[in-house]
Amino acid sequence: MALNLDLESYLTPIKLATAALVVSAIALTRRRDPYEDIPTVGSSNPIWSYIDGFRFLSAAPHQKEGIFRIPTPIGWIVVLAGTKHIDELRTKRGEELSASAAMRQVTSGDYTFGAEIFDKPYNVPLVRTKLTRYIGAFFDNTRDEVMLTCDELLPSETDSNWKAVSTHSVCQLITGRAANRSYITDPSIYRDPGYLRVMMSFAKSAIQGGTILRFFPDFVKPIIAPIVTNVPASINTATRYLSKTIESRMKNYEKYGSDYPEKEDDMLSWFIDLVDQEDRNLRHLIMCILHVNAAAINTTSMSMYAALNALASHPEYIEPLREEIQSVVADYGWSKVSMGRMQKLDSFLMEAMRFCPPTVLTSPRLAMVDYVFSNGIRLPKDALVAVPTIARHMDDEVFPNAKTFDGFRFCKPQSATDDRGDSVNRAGTSASSKLTTLSSDYLLFGLGEHACPGRFFAANLIKLTISHMLMTYDIKLDPTCPPSGRYVTADFQPSPKDVLLFRKKETV
Ligand code: HEM
Repeated sequence: MALNLDLESYLTPIKLATAALVVSAIALTRRRDPYEDIPTVGSSNPIWSYIDGFRFLSAAPHQKEGIFRIPTPIGWIVVLAGTKHIDELRTKRGEELSASAAMRQVTSGDYTFGAEIFDKPYNVPLVRTKLTRYIGAFFDNTRDEVMLTCDELLPSETDSNWKAVSTHSVCQLITGRAANRSYITDPSIYRDPGYLRVMMSFAKSAIQGGTILRFFPDFVKPIIAPIVTNVPASINTATRYLSKTIESRMKNYEKYGSDYPEKEDDMLSWFIDLVDQEDRNLRHLIMCILHVNAAAINTTSMSMYAALNALASHPEYIEPLREEIQSVVADYGWSKVSMGRMQKLDSFLMEAMRFCPPTVLTSPRLAMVDYVFSNGIRLPKDALVAVPTIARHMDDEVFPNAKTFDGFRFCKPQSATDDRGDSVNRAGTSASSKLTTLSSDYLLFGLGEHACPGRFFAANLIKLTISHMLMTYDIKLDPTCPPSGRYVTADFQPSPKDVLLFRKKETV
């Protein structure tokens, strides 16, 4: 056998493979960048670009209109700025821009929150309809829980000694206990510190772990997920607390159906009634409770934290707010109706959260198809888009003197219609100025069909807590420890070291 021939026949495939590699490398470098229509924001340095991009979003709105992209270590985020584009995202259906697919991707949802939660999001209709309708019926219990938690954590003496209290812990505990009292009517569960700890930490760990998982290929994610998240541990702990209750309620359901004597009227029972037969099992119901807590606790407690810090930083609002609360409660008592009548409080909370929404980007959506915006800009399939909260909230054209804190900006008397043509209600307040009203200007609760369904529940709880605190305690900043929470990349991180000073208010 001639050596030459052998070499020839051996080299041919190598040559062919090399040629193929060179051709594909050239093709790759020449391939059209699918994002080429969309300008980039931030440094071109790959490490700083990520930080730069989010810094850009949490600072002043340099770019108020248009579409731009920011790099992250796990891909681009396309940001839609300005009314026209935000409205475009608001009206798009899930077949084009999907909220659920975006959350599933961003959180590596199949390995963190669980695929079942995305396949069948039972919590969305339950929160939107039943929980929201029950706010009035649950009001007295919710108030009782807020008051009890305050009694335990805040000072009981009306002396001159102010007590320093961790702002974030108070807000988390009040939210966790009050919300879970509506989910499971058993105080030995919803007041248990271990149960509350797992409900409060699940979302954070799932989201952080989900971000790490995005660096890995799909086939290793199931192996790595238990290492980088505490999801299995959270499920085990939640099972320890909930299994007896859930199993006994499922037994009752099997025996009597959805209507039986002394049935508990709470979120857990509603889940058992609502889910499909194949999902009526311990694990699925535990995931439902974990998930509804994940959506509710951090967002609500962070907004409460922003409101308390705003009160302590702007003490001139305390007396006018107390006067409003006193007068509304004198007319309507402590009730859901009275919470709706406190327009100054509503405005103050809106303003606090305008300055400090939980994230700099909201309403994430995943492009399910190649999508062309009305201005001709092309968004490739699988691109992640979102809208900027702070940039919008700090835009002087949207909110005059946007960088000035004006606690009553949303309840100022106006003419019959405001400058955006919105109708004006009897109190002379723009009908669009309510905390829970969705708009392309005020993005706290997101946009469109996937806007937060828990916003009425959250607004009621925050108003109830702040009005109770204002009527029961004096609150002020600790001059040695000013609020130091800040945005870390996209999310606001309250500082665990932050304290506010409280003392029991003297009754007149
Ligand atoms: C101040 C407190 C809260 C804030 C700031 C907040 C904010 C948000 C935002 C921005 C979204 C995404 C909207 C979008 O994609 O356009 C959302 C979704 C959601 N929120 Fe809230 N939220 C709060 C409280 C709650 C509470 C208390 C619950 C439940 C009791 C809840 C349940 C949900 C659910 C289930 C979704 C998903 C909706 C869907 O996919 O259709 N949220 N929330």
